[in-house]
Amino acid sequence: MFELYLDTADLGQISRFAACLPVHGITTNPSILAGSGIGLAELLPKVAEILGDKAVIHVQVVGEDADAMVREALHLQELPYRIVVKVPVTEIGLIAIKRMKTRNIPVLATAIYSVQQGFLAALCGADYLAPYVNRIDAMGANGTGVVADLQSLLDRHRLVGKLLPASFKNTQQVLEVLKAGVGAITLPPGIAAELFAHPAVQPAVNRFTQDWQAVFGRKLSFES
Ligand code: E4P
Repeated sequence: MFELYLDTADLGQISRFAACLPVHGITTNPSILAGSGIGLAELLPKVAEILGDKAVIHVQVVGEDADAMVREALHLQELPYRIVVKVPVTEIGLIAIKRMKTRNIPVLATAIYSVQQGFLAALCGADYLAPYVNRIDAMGANGTGVVADLQSLLDRHRLVGKLLPASFKNTQQVLEVLKAGVGAITLPPGIAAELFAHPAVQPAVNRFTQDWQAVFGRKLSFES
């Protein structure tokens, strides 16, 4: 099943999109949480209230060595929420991912900038892989190409990791990763809104209203 996430801790935006889209959960990182000004103790119950108790919340470890990351992950798993532990794919992060997977902790391998880095995280058992599409593009490389190549390697080797691309700055990047067959995506609120905004839509809707009201006034369809 495809999983749609919001890449935000903004409760107003989470409520807005929960009303119109099938939001599976949210992804956060230390910068997002620091920017929101609220910690997990406040955020988690509010997100569960908005999205329901089945919502999946991706939370990144901030520990700086593998022991600390695993300890942190174990604490996160004790909380009464469906938390996926985000671990940056560094050498230390890969050690932590391997250890977390021996304890069946759900893991998102994050900060993926290359196909090979993502492939190694998948080999270590990561459940989700988050390539940073726009950050890769901004470095002069091809973010959507990294996603497509990684997806084909995962398919070829039948690895369980699900691609959950992150870091988008335009809807074309979103379309390209969807075409590559990813199983999940996380969108910043602005990009989520742009996906259903098209300059031709509102004029078309206005014309329908105008034509209808010219003949039927304020009647609803079943009253005509
Ligand atoms: C999400 O998991 C990533 O941390 C995030 O999408 C990075 O996005 P940015 O490049 O817009 O900061």
